[in-house]
Amino acid sequence: MIRTRVIATAAKAPEQVITNEDLSKIVDTSDEWISQRTGIKERHISAGENTSALVIDVAKQLLEKTEVPGESIDLIVVASVTPDYGTPSLACMVQKEIGAKNAVAFDVVAACSGFMFALSTADKYIKSGMFENAIVIGGETLSKIVDWTDRATCVLFGDGAGGAYVEKSQEAGVVHENLGSAGELYDILTEGYTNCSNAFNDIPAEIDSKWYVNMNGREVFKFATKNVVRSMKRVMEEAQVDRDEIKYIVPHQANVRIVEVVSKKLGIPMEKFYMNMERYGNTSSASIPMALNELNERGLLERGDKIMLSGFGGGMTWGTMLIEW
Ligand code: COA
Repeated sequence: MIRTRVIATAAKAPEQVITNEDLSKIVDTSDEWISQRTGIKERHISAGENTSALVIDVAKQLLEKTEVPGESIDLIVVASVTPDYGTPSLACMVQKEIGAKNAVAFDVVAACSGFMFALSTADKYIKSGMFENAIVIGGETLSKIVDWTDRATCVLFGDGAGGAYVEKSQEAGVVHENLGSAGELYDILTEGYTNCSNAFNDIPAEIDSKWYVNMNGREVFKFATKNVVRSMKRVMEEAQVDRDEIKYIVPHQANVRIVEVVSKKLGIPMEKFYMNMERYGNTSSASIPMALNELNERGLLERGDKIMLSGFGGGMTWGTMLIEW
């Protein structure tokens, strides 16, 4: 059976670190409130580098690690809600910088589930036999679309990128997945709204408050716990894998309290959930691949291990993937 196997992972965060203490100087908040409600202590914030700089860095690292030349890459899929441009896609910018002149390159948008949707897309192209390999990246500079005067949202997010080089394998790889969308709930988490203005109508082309991240935190919390639990259960049931066989779960790094609820509802101990949101905050589509890369770089994964990646995000969307490492 053809499978899509993760051969290498990489991540990149901006150098600048902003602590909870730093945030308390610009909005009415405290380290205590942020730590207790979210588990986040600090986040990396761009000092000017745009999303393309982060995702290109990740792509270059992946080629270095695998020694695969750029021209041998078949597919580049980047997930982001904070690209540099409307067009070109980030994937096309990556393509140029790594010399992947034979690749097909495009972006996908599924907010914090973005990496799951991107990896799922690459998996289907590889399983169909159309492509042999792919670079899949999630990358964001959320700092440019966060309202830095809104304490309810600005404390949650960070910037970064993470990704994987995947290729066709007969041995291991993506075993099973569950993706989902609940568009009827789209307005509980939005960002980047632009209004329609043109030369013939008297509509001011102004950036209004809907440009920034707007979120109903409690509704997102409810959505996340319900759907992540359901999605992970479904993947384990359909793949006939017992929860005890799972070595690690890499959850979307939004909030430690969400992970605690998921852990309790699934009866899977917290030690199995790999988390680094304490140091990076919620980096949206970058969060899962950044955490996966850390798990990998720390040497905690062995070939044959079963792991699950699971995320949720704007749209609303969710995605879970069971991978044999
Ligand atoms: N510092 C201090 N106080 C804050 C604050 C901050 N940064 N942000 C909000 N507050 C205040 C609120 O104003 C409110 O005050 P009030 O009771 O006087 O009105 C109080 O804290 C409680 O606010 P609430 O929004 O009800 O808190 P909460 O317990 O729901 O926690 C979240 C807020 C955002 C941490 C929580 O809802 C959450 O984690 N939601 C999921 C968000 C998420 O995962 N988003 C990413 C999606 S990919």
